[in-house]
Amino acid sequence: MTPEAQILLTRRMPPPAERLLRDAGLRVDAVENDAPLPPAELLRRVRGVSGLICSLSEPVDTAVLEAAGPSLRVVANFAVGVDNIDVPACTACGVRVTNTPDILTDATADLTWALILATARRVVEGDRHVRSGEWKGWTPTESLGVELTGATLGIVGAGRIGTAVGLRSRGFGMRVLYVHPRANATLESDVGAERVDLDRLLRESDILTLHVPMTQENHHLIDRARLARMKPTAILINTARGPIVDEVALLEALRENRIDSAGLDVFEHEPRLSAGLSELANVVLLPHVGSATTRTRAAMSRMAAENVIAVLTDRPPPNPVN
Ligand code: GLV
Repeated sequence: MTPEAQILLTRRMPPPAERLLRDAGLRVDAVENDAPLPPAELLRRVRGVSGLICSLSEPVDTAVLEAAGPSLRVVANFAVGVDNIDVPACTACGVRVTNTPDILTDATADLTWALILATARRVVEGDRHVRSGEWKGWTPTESLGVELTGATLGIVGAGRIGTAVGLRSRGFGMRVLYVHPRANATLESDVGAERVDLDRLLRESDILTLHVPMTQENHHLIDRARLARMKPTAILINTARGPIVDEVALLEALRENRIDSAGLDVFEHEPRLSAGLSELANVVLLPHVGSATTRTRAAMSRMAAENVIAVLTDRPPPNPVN
């Protein structure tokens, strides 16, 4: 490792990344800002760095790679999804890309369940109603929701997070269907899940939850035609990536009650929402907080730093993407 090696941290990050990097003898340029680094500022600050720890809101494309120059050896994403990074371009430049898998699986699965329960039982709507002062007391007909016991949970993408979401359904006695390129032995043995095609999952799910990565193929995987195949009583949950769902088509389906409701932690054009989405009562909106627990974010910080240090000391990174 060259003594002058410098690392850019594009966002304010929880400890211990900065300390670990400094302890390893690296110079650190840590952006003290919670907002995404504006593209021009990123191009300026990345010049001559050996490593970059970035977040999912900073695109790392050829312009960034060119601005960094030949000193750049590693891009450590502070996220498991790497759709903000042009991985083939990094590979072509000999730059390692790493991410933060596994450690955020439980936090993200928990948050998925928070959205499932919040939408099914209309938790946010109820909270608003009570706060508004308009609640007149208990009634037999108000705020009726969807019962989870015996309902069908449809998991699109049974990787780490999809599996963890499925395993958590045990407490609710749900039937579980999943779509995945391969059989998932854990889901099949532990919750009796059945692997089906997407069409059947769309038709039979009461709760449909998305856990696929954002790739070109998965762009608008849930489009107008597929939304139309869902039950009018179904709930759609997205804690993966916004562009997996055609947000305008979803908005129309929600507005016309063609599905019951949606729970969204991610949006097609974050942080902007499609016009009208925030006015709907049958959607719960969260600010992309799947991994946002104190413990998980600290583990992500450590993992990102460890990946950078490994590459700069000529060791294989623990969490390689390329
Ligand atoms: C968050 O969305 C992540 O990919 O880690």
